[in-house]
Amino acid sequence: MAARDKLLPEVAEFLKPDPVQMFIDGQWTPADDGGTFETLDPGDGALLARVAEGKAADIDRAVAAAQKAFASEAWGGLAVKDRAVLLHRLADLVEAHSDALIQLESLDVGKPIPQADFDVTNVALMLRWYADLAVHTRYSEPIATPNFEARQIRVPYGVAAFILPWNFPILLAGWNISPALAAGNTVVIKPAENTPLSALLLCALAKEAGFPPGVINVVPGFGDTAGAALAAHTGIKRMAFTGSPAVGKLIASSCGANLVPVKLELGGKGAAVVFDDMDPKVVAQKLTESVTLNTGQVCCTATRWLVQKKLWDKFVPAATQAMKSVKIGHGLEATTQMGPMVSQTQRERVLDYLERGRKDGAEALLEGGPVTVADHPDGFYITPALLTGAPDNVCAQEEIFGPAAYAIPFGDEAEAVALVNDCPYGLANSVWTADLGRANRVAEAMVAGSSWINGHNLFPPGVPFGGCNLSGLGGGVGSAATFFDYLRNQSIVRPLE
Ligand code: NAI
Ligand code: MG
Repeated sequence: MAARDKLLPEVAEFLKPDPVQMFIDGQWTPADDGGTFETLDPGDGALLARVAEGKAADIDRAVAAAQKAFASEAWGGLAVKDRAVLLHRLADLVEAHSDALIQLESLDVGKPIPQADFDVTNVALMLRWYADLAVHTRYSEPIATPNFEARQIRVPYGVAAFILPWNFPILLAGWNISPALAAGNTVVIKPAENTPLSALLLCALAKEAGFPPGVINVVPGFGDTAGAALAAHTGIKRMAFTGSPAVGKLIASSCGANLVPVKLELGGKGAAVVFDDMDPKVVAQKLTESVTLNTGQVCCTATRWLVQKKLWDKFVPAATQAMKSVKIGHGLEATTQMGPMVSQTQRERVLDYLERGRKDGAEALLEGGPVTVADHPDGFYITPALLTGAPDNVCAQEEIFGPAAYAIPFGDEAEAVALVNDCPYGLANSVWTADLGRANRVAEAMVAGSSWINGHNLFPPGVPFGGCNLSGLGGGVGSAATFFDYLRNQSIVRPLE
C-alpha cells in the first residue's frame, strides 16, 4: 500500500489544494508567475504534493507584508505578554495537531514517526520556552553612571529572514523563529525545496492561533531564486541560515553587502572519543543510533569514532553488528528505525563519498550501499557503512551527511584530542569515559560549539547550540542568548544639571 493511501484525514485535507499555496500576509496565495514544483515522499520516490514556487517577486511581497505587520498596532503595538499568549496558543495547536504535523514531516523528509514526533514536540517546547523568557525579560535597564540619567532599551529589529534545510524542517523552523517572534520581530521563511510542507502547515496553525497577517510568512522555492532574493533583500533586518558552508558563504556575502547581521549553522564532522573503560557494546549501540538518526542527515552527529586501542577489537565487531541490525524501511512503518535519504541526489552524494573514501585508501569494515526495501522499490534507501583508515582520508575530513562512520584507533588522551581538532569544522563532539575528570578535560579541549559527555545529540532547552570555524557564526540557537540576538540595544541618555 502506497504511503499516499495511509494519510490522516487532516493531512489529506492539507494536501488537497493543487498546488499547496504559499502563505503571505495571512493568506494562501499562488506564486506571482503561477509556477509550481514537486515535493516527493523519498520512501517511495513518489509525488507527495505540488507546491507554489516562490521567486523574487513573491519574496518582495512577503517582506513587504512582514514590514507592514511589524509597523502595525496588531503586532508592533502588542504588549509582550500578549505576544507570549499568541506563542503559547500556537504551541497548544502544535500539540493538538501533532499527529498531522508528524505524519507530514515523516512523509516529506522520510524520517521514522518517532523521530518526527521528537521534532514536533520540540517546536512546542521552544515556542513556550521563548514565550516565558520574553515575559521575564527587562526591556529597559538603568545604567549606573555619574551625572547622567542613562538607560538601555531592547527593541526588536524588524523583519527576520530564515533559509532552512531539509533535514529538520519543522524543528529548525521552531528553533529559529521562536526567539525572533518572542522578541517581537516578524518573519519570512524560505523552507528547503525538498521539504516545504510542515512550515506551511505551521502557518495554518498560526492563523488559527490568531497571529496577525504578515507576522509569519512562508515562501517555498529554490535556493538560487527565492533563497538568494531573500538573503539579498534590503528590507530584512536579520538573517539566519542553516545548510551547507558553500551556500552559507553566499548568504553571508549578501548580508554583508547590506550590513544585515547573520547567523550561520553549517554542519560538522563530529567526533566521538571512546576510552577503554567503557562497555564497547553499549557505546557501539549508542553511536550507531547517533549516526543512523535521520539517516545520518544530522549536522552534529557522531561521524568520526575515535576508539582507544585496547577497546578496538571488541568495539569494531559490536559496531558492525549494531549497524547491520538497524531496521531500514519507510518512515510510516512502525518497525522502521532508519528511513530513506531525503533525495536521490543526497543518496548519490553519500555513495560517491564512500567510493572516494575507498579509492583514497579506506578499508570498509561494513560496506554501505544502496538497498531496495520490500514494497517500496523506488525509495532512496541506503545501508549504514563503517570505514577505517588514515585520519586524512576524504571520508574522515568532509561532511558525508549519511549513515556512514569512520573509525580510528588512538593511544592516549592527547592523541585523541589532536585527532578531534584536526578538522575544519567545529560543531559538536562527544567523549565517552567513566572517569569524569578526564571527560571534562577532554570536553574542554575539543574545539567546537558543543562537547557532550557519555551521550551524543543532546539538546536540553536553554543550552546554546552553534558552531565555530567552518560550522558557522553568529551565536547559534537554543539559548537565552538567541533571544537577545533578536533584540537590538538602544541607549537613552540625559545630562543631569
Ligand atoms: P544547501 O545549503 O544547498 O540548502 C540549504 C538551504 O539553502 C535550502 O533551503 C536551499 O534552498 C537554500 N539555498 C541553496 N542555494 C542557495 C542560494 N544560492 N541562496 C540562498 N539560499 C540557497 O544544502 P544541500 O545542497 O541541500 O545539501 C548539501 C550538503 O549541505 C549536505 O550534504 C550537507 O553536508 C550540508 N547540509 C547541512 C545542513 C545542516 O544541518 N547544517 C542541512 C542541509 C545540508
Ligand atoms: Mg519531500
